[in-house]
Amino acid sequence: MYVPPKASYAEVLKDAVKNGYAVGQFNLNGLEYLQAIVEVAEEERSPVILGVSVSSTKYIGLDYLIALANAAKLKARVPIILHLDHGPDFDFVMKAIRAGFDSVMYDGSEHPLEENIATTRRVVEAAHAAGVSVEGEIGRIGGTEDEVSVDEREAMLARVDEAERFARETGIDAIAPALGTAHGMYKGRPEIAFDRLEAIHKRTGLPVVLHGGSGVPEEDIRRAIALGVGKINVNTESQVEFSRVVRKTLEEKPDLYDSRKYLGPAREAIKEIIRAKIRLFGSNNRF
Ligand code: 13P
Repeated sequence: MYVPPKASYAEVLKDAVKNGYAVGQFNLNGLEYLQAIVEVAEEERSPVILGVSVSSTKYIGLDYLIALANAAKLKARVPIILHLDHGPDFDFVMKAIRAGFDSVMYDGSEHPLEENIATTRRVVEAAHAAGVSVEGEIGRIGGTEDEVSVDEREAMLARVDEAERFARETGIDAIAPALGTAHGMYKGRPEIAFDRLEAIHKRTGLPVVLHGGSGVPEEDIRRAIALGVGKINVNTESQVEFSRVVRKTLEEKPDLYDSRKYLGPAREAIKEIIRAKIRLFGSNNRF
């Protein structure tokens, strides 16, 4: 049984940008994450996007994932959107659409622009026919473990003219340009290319997606939202907190074997990370 969300990814992001807030994509790494995300979304009256990476679809299993998301959607009064994060190729993205994802990201950013445009356009055609929204990526969003020089960093950033063409020729619903953020925890302060962000939003007219939301200073988040960011992805901060609490609980009680007794406190702890992000992004009290 497929349960549609109460609002589409495209509609939710459009509303966010129009009203000066951003919707959080919180990554789903297991059942406890799903419960934490959905409980906080309900408590905060906030729409949320459940981000699922390819590795998480494999870890959890596509069939379990859809059943879990459907249970959450039936229970919640706020929009819960099941989203494929960094879909690596056309076939995998189609598999996710057929399985029942509400929105998909196709990440063709490692390919030459022409190829990225061509595949993203095919994804959009198929996805839109199925009522599914699409996020496209341009430029290269790195990981903080990547050692990059200033010149390399500059080369990884999305170009405004290319972003404009990418948006026009693909028909995507939201654009994820590389703007200087990275996946993982930062060693120093991330340098966000705010000028490019503003220009890309203005020239494409699309909600901008900020990947690598963990560890970005609050003032940078607020500035990014004011310039057109409508969705912010957060994963590492929740994972770090989850693991910290599991580790601490097991260190304090080395004989503990009931997994609910260390996973439960970790689930409670990440609720507060997610709540703080939702409030910072301003998506609370919207439903
Ligand atoms: P972080 O893990 O850095 O929060 O990034 C998450 C992300 O962008 C997922 O696509």
